[in-house]
Amino acid sequence: MTYPIQYDMKGQSCFMSGATSGINEQIARRFAEAGANIFVISRSPEKVQRTVDMLKEAGGEASGSPVDVRDYDSVVSAVTRAQATFGNFDVVFAGQAGNFPAGAAQMSANAFKSVIDIDLLGTFNVFRATIEHAKKPGASYLAISAPQATRPWLFQSHVCAAKAGVNMLIKCCALEWGASGVRVNAISPGPIDGTEGMERLAPTEELKAKVADAVAMKRMGNRDDIAEAALWLCSPAASYVTGTVLEAEGGMTLGDATNAMKL
Ligand code: HXC
Ligand code: NAP
Repeated sequence: MTYPIQYDMKGQSCFMSGATSGINEQIARRFAEAGANIFVISRSPEKVQRTVDMLKEAGGEASGSPVDVRDYDSVVSAVTRAQATFGNFDVVFAGQAGNFPAGAAQMSANAFKSVIDIDLLGTFNVFRATIEHAKKPGASYLAISAPQATRPWLFQSHVCAAKAGVNMLIKCCALEWGASGVRVNAISPGPIDGTEGMERLAPTEELKAKVADAVAMKRMGNRDDIAEAALWLCSPAASYVTGTVLEAEGGMTLGDATNAMKL
């Protein structure tokens, strides 16, 4: 496939959490194609290994380890290995998430906590564990948010709260780290076709069509729609962009699109 803009990440050191499937895996693939060296973490050893193999094939150097981002000490161990392997980080990416539809009056406290811990605490853990090893100036931090961060959705109180937290976390870190030349941003993807997230939220063809129809652009996004945004945000072209949540949502939150989820 030919992409509109060619990015050069040759030799850049990237630490990426939750990049072993779906949207984030495609972001990692595109970083590797641009020449990046990537250390990837997620829970499943099989997914980590498969991703490392894929990234090497795509053109980058790659390594990884199975880590649950909720466990800060494990994140620190992985960061230590990553820094020793590829050097101080040009890019730090936190993309892991958990999601299931459940009403606030039906889910357990532990169900709510699981999503908060994966999405929000996990992002903090990755940011906190890497910042001392980030290139200053020049490092780019990127988290993954969601349209739920800015609109209340039915059966998504846990995700809405977690992603709203992610939006504010990146802004606070951008404020604190801006003086050292570190940028911190997030991308909020709209509904992305063929992903675990959409399988969970819109499991039938009928629902998928309704979701697509509720988006201003009348289509679901694809994984490269988001990878392009990530490449740009982590490139020198975005050198004065920090503390922003880039909505690559096809206009999902412009109207009352989230009503689709009622169906
Ligand atoms: C109610 C549920 C539940 C469900 C789990 N729980 N699934 N409650 N409805 N469907 C409860 C469990 O009963 C338990 O509570 C608690 O949540 C933790 O469950 P575990 O299975 O022990 O947790 P864990 O193994 O840590 O798994 C985390 C997970 C799981 C979030 C529950 O689904 C997961 O690993 N997800 C990762 C992949 C994923 O979700 N991808 C989609 C991302 S898309 P009790 O009280 O019984 O102990 C996305 C946005 C899409 O985020 C936006 C689209 C526009
Ligand atoms: P996905 O394929 O389920 O990817 C989730 C990733 O996170 C996997 O690599 C998973 O690997 C990892 N992960 C989950 N829990 C983890 C934990 N505790 N510790 C470490 N890694 C963990 O999801 P997706 O649908 O592509 O979504 C990717 C991101 O985009 C998420 O942040 C999601 O909220 C956001 N988003 C998605 C959509 C959509 O339409 N899909 C829309 C808006 C926003 P392991 O299983 O190996 O841990």
